Parts: sequence; C-alpha cells; structure tokens
Amino acid sequence: MDKITALAKRRGFIFPGSEIYGGLANSWDYGPYGVELKNNIKRAWWNANVYQRYDVYGMDAALIMHPKVWEASGHIKNFSDPMVECKNCKSRFRGDHVEKKSATEFVCPHCSAVNAFNPRQFNLMFKTYIGPVEDSSAVAFLRPETAQGMFVNFLNVIDSRHPKLPFGLAQIGKSFRNEITPGNFIFRTREFEQMEIEYFVHPSDGDAKHQEWIDSRYAWYLNLGLKKENLRLRPHDKDELAHYARACTDIEYQFPFGWSELEGIANRTDFDLRQHAQFSGKDLIYTDEVKKEKVYPYIIEPSGGVDRSLLAFLVDAYAEEQVKDDTRVVLKLHKDLAPVKIAVFPLLKNRPEIVETAKRIAADLKKVFVTTYDDTGAIGKLYRRQDEVGTLYCVTVDVQSLEDKQVTVRDRDTMQQERVGTDKLKEYFFNKLSGS
Ligand code: GAP
Repeated sequence: MDKITALAKRRGFIFPGSEIYGGLANSWDYGPYGVELKNNIKRAWWNANVYQRYDVYGMDAALIMHPKVWEASGHIKNFSDPMVECKNCKSRFRGDHVEKKSATEFVCPHCSAVNAFNPRQFNLMFKTYIGPVEDSSAVAFLRPETAQGMFVNFLNVIDSRHPKLPFGLAQIGKSFRNEITPGNFIFRTREFEQMEIEYFVHPSDGDAKHQEWIDSRYAWYLNLGLKKENLRLRPHDKDELAHYARACTDIEYQFPFGWSELEGIANRTDFDLRQHAQFSGKDLIYTDEVKKEKVYPYIIEPSGGVDRSLLAFLVDAYAEEQVKDDTRVVLKLHKDLAPVKIAVFPLLKNRPEIVETAKRIAADLKKVFVTTYDDTGAIGKLYRRQDEVGTLYCVTVDVQSLEDKQVTVRDRDTMQQERVGTDKLKEYFFNKLSGS
C-alpha cells in the first residue's frame, strides 16, 4: 500500500485532502490522472449496465432528500455501528472491529489499554440544516447511499418510460457516511462515490435474477483486467444480512490489507417499495396489464464503490519489472481504464522540425484519443514516466521520421517497438484501442 499511495501522489492520481492546511484526516483529492481513471471506471460501468442493456435506465437523483425518506428506509433507526471508546487515550473504534480480551473487555488498538466493552450505537448519517434556521424542522441528511433516490422515483420512471418487469435504474454519485474508523487510503472514507443498480423483478424471479447479477458483476471486474486469483464471491451468512435482505453476496478483492468488499449484490425483497408506499401514502405497486396482476416487485441491488474499485484496479495493475540493470514501475491498466492512451515525444528537442512534427501528430491524435505530448526529458525517462501512469503507447518522432514519414510506436506491456507510417497512425490506434 505504501508504494501505491506514494505513486498515486508522485504521479498525480490522488493527493491528501486539504494538504496545505495540514490535511484533513481520511479525505483525498483526485488529481489529473486520478480523475481520468475514475471517469473511465464510471464510463465502463455505465456502458456495461446502461448502454449495453435494454432494461436499465440511468438516473441522477438529488443528494439531499426529504427527511422522511430516511425514516422509511430505516436509516434513522438502524444505520449505526457499535462504537467503543478507550478511557486511556480517548480513541474511538468500531465495537465489531476491536480485539476482545474477554466477553466484557476489549484491548485498545491504539494504546493497548484494556477497557470495559460497552458499545453504544452511533448513527453514521451526516446531519445538516436546510435554510437559514437551524432548528429541528430544518434537519436534513446527506445521503448515505444513492439507492433511495431510485426507489422514490419508481413511479416517475413507470409513468414516463412504461417499462415492463424486470427493469432497472442505475445511478452513480457521492454518498456520505460518518464512519467511526475510516482508513486504508481510499478504501473507507467519509465521502465516497457509489455505482448502484436497483433492478425490479417479479418476486418469483428474485433468486434467479440475483444470481444473474452476481455473475454479471463478477465478470465486469474480470473483463476490466482484475486477476482472477484476487477476486472471490462471498455469500453472506444469515446472521450478517441487513434487515431488508433475503440474500447478499459480496465481491471481494484481495487488497494488500486482506480480502475486503468491493461490491455487494443483495436481494432486498419488496422491503423498500412497501416502506416508501407506507410512509409516502403513494401506490408503489406494479400493475401487469397482461396478467392482470398487481405486485410489489422485489429489488436486486448490485452496489459498488467507485473509489474502492479504483484502488483495486491500481493495486492489481501495479508491477515492478527488471529491465537490464533497472527496475521499471508500470501500471498495466486495462486499455479502457488507462488515463492516457498515447504519448508523443520528439527524440531531439533541439531540432524544430522534429518538435513541430511531434506536436502536429499529438494534436491530430488528440482529436480522437486521449493523447499527451512531452519533451521534458531524455527518451528513457519519458518512457518510464508514461509507464508509471499506465499510458498504453508511446510515439517517438526521430530524424528518420522526417524522411520516411514513419514514427516508432512502443507498446507499454511488451516494450516492443514498431515503425508505423504517420498517415496510418489513426487507423493503427483505432484497431488497437477499439472499445475504448
Ligand atoms: N445501497 C446499498 C449499500 O449502500 P453498502 O454495502 O453499504 O451497500 C455499497 O455499500 C458499496 O459502497 C460498498 O461495497 C463499497 O464499495 C462502497 N462503500 C461503502 N461504504 C464506503 C466507504 N465508507 N468508503 C468507500 N466506499 C464505501
């Protein structure tokens, strides 16, 4: 993890939040390459789950919702973690994460003091106020999940798009949780992004569709390059299921700190629609005109984190390779995820014709592919720099290019080089990068 956080900062993927003020613990800012990688992950998710399907519609709901939403969802009552405090150093921890010395005592992970184990429930929602008066009638919450924005729009989507069961809603957006113990870089933070699908099915199809989504979401991570040996499915035991869930399977990744959840795929039953129907007084039942049947659909929910998957993609892609006497660090990111697809360099920066040709080629490629131009170092250094951010191809313009109108294209992973005619470059990269 130290190598990943150092690379992320050095190369402009992820910076500590508010750093010039001493930093704000567990907040992180995405830099120039980080935001590209994040956007590429979100694009790949949207493409697979919205554009490549006929039955899933995109959404972007408000972040601050009516406070009754959180009563109906159960968050006000149930969205809490057990918290314990060390009497010696005053640190606070999740009661379910500390080492117990006995049934009634725990060991402080910070100062090793032994304390009485008497956890109290701590609600994880961030509270705020709507408008200028900070009284109880103005209380609102930052959403702790994007899901509820989709449940409350169930009727709007039925009325505007007239979908038949099964159909789904998909949304990507920020969520906020006042975590007691955030940590492990961007793995657990208080502000993060989720990618969630709420898939409405006839209750009799619930189990089969649940399995289909588990398979589809697992395949998505594999298709984007995560190594199979670092991914696993973990069905929840009955006693760890959320109060609304009939079943849930996590997709876990083997992070440097151990196997941890990347995404959960739950069968939420008809809990959500029934709750919102009851609290809003609106009829959220689905009417099947052909079967003449009224039913509360079950909801299958694949719910993943953008930041967590970004961390997994970074960790999985990181490689150190021995090249002659040197070690090269390379991010072997999938072509759809790599922040930059092509980098163009002039071999000699004191030859204006070479520099101009390289700049012209870069400008031309930029119109179609994410392309960068760099002439701030010797060629070996420029290659290493691009390897570290996962750039797929490097194009070098040299003296000979001025005569034979060919350039050298170097492949990130194999480091093999080939000469390609400048008039064939776009077609060459179209073939290499199709699907990006
Ligand atoms: N709507 C269901 C739901 O929110 P969850 O398991 O609490 O389920 C889903 O969250 C995903 O959101 C997790 O698998 C994880 O990827 C991401 N996530 C949850 N809490 C997070 C946090 N504090 N920091 C970063 N990502 C988080």
